[in-house]
This record gives sequence, C-alpha cells and structure tokens, in this order.
Amino acid sequence: MLSAIEIEKISHELRHVPVKKAACIEALKIVQQERRWVSDESVADIAAMLEMSAAEVDSVATFYNLIFRKPVGRHIILLCDSISCYVMGYTALRQRLHEILLIGYGQTTADERFTLLPNACLGTCDHAPALMIDEDLYRDLQPEDLEQILEKYH
Ligand code: FES
Repeated sequence: MLSAIEIEKISHELRHVPVKKAACIEALKIVQQERRWVSDESVADIAAMLEMSAAEVDSVATFYNLIFRKPVGRHIILLCDSISCYVMGYTALRQRLHEILLIGYGQTTADERFTLLPNACLGTCDHAPALMIDEDLYRDLQPEDLEQILEKYH
C-alpha cells in the first residue's frame, strides 16, 4: 500500500500533467525515494492510482535503469564504463571495487551499504575515469582513491 506521503506527492504531480499516465515516472521516483526500490506491490499501487495496468507501469520502470525493481543498498555506486573512462582506467577501478566490496555488478554488499552498477557516460569525460555515489560525482580517479571515498558512506 502506498503511504500517505507517497499518495500526497503523487497527487501533487497529477495536478501538473494533462493525463494521469504522464505522472508515471515521477510516481516511480517518489516511491523509490521513500523505499529505495519499487516492489511489484508498489507497481500495482501506482498503476491503480494512475489508471494504468501494472504491466504498463512495469514497462516504464524497466525502461529507466535508475528505477530499481529489486532491493538495493543504502548507496548506489554508478561506475562509468563508456569509452573515455574505459581508456583512462575503468578496468582497474572496477577490479578495486570488486576487491573492496566483494560484489559484482547488480549486487549489494552483505551489510546493505552499497549496490554496484555500471553506467553509461556520466558527462565528465575530460576528467575520466569517473563514478557517482548517490548524487556525488568523483572524477580523475585512481584505484587507490576508492577506499577513502567509500568510507564517507555509512
Ligand atoms: S566516458 Fe566516463 S564520463 Fe564520459
């Protein structure tokens, strides 16, 4: 069941769109903000609120790679795997992240602290290699920088 806060926020979005379906991505983002991920139950609840089918909402959710359809950690690491970062040291960063976190892509650490995901260009190619943790962008990275950076996130 959607929470009162989620319903209020989605209702607010609905006031700004011509048809209910147009609020779908915002509704998904709102639920994810509250719960970190969007369960099947939440998809069904959003669908009911927006007068869509659950399959329609699910297809929107799966189109956007930053809408999470399974549980994720408290912090999301997006490691850029596009060409500039690839050339400038992506492989060593990925290797170091795997060593520190003991997880691969799409996995979450045992303490639920981090989920690691590959990501297309983060728009900072002149400072490659780069990654994002939540809203924070890190550039010109060396593998030895990673441990200290990760320590900031609990
Ligand atoms: S290729 Fe990594 S930021 Fe553009």
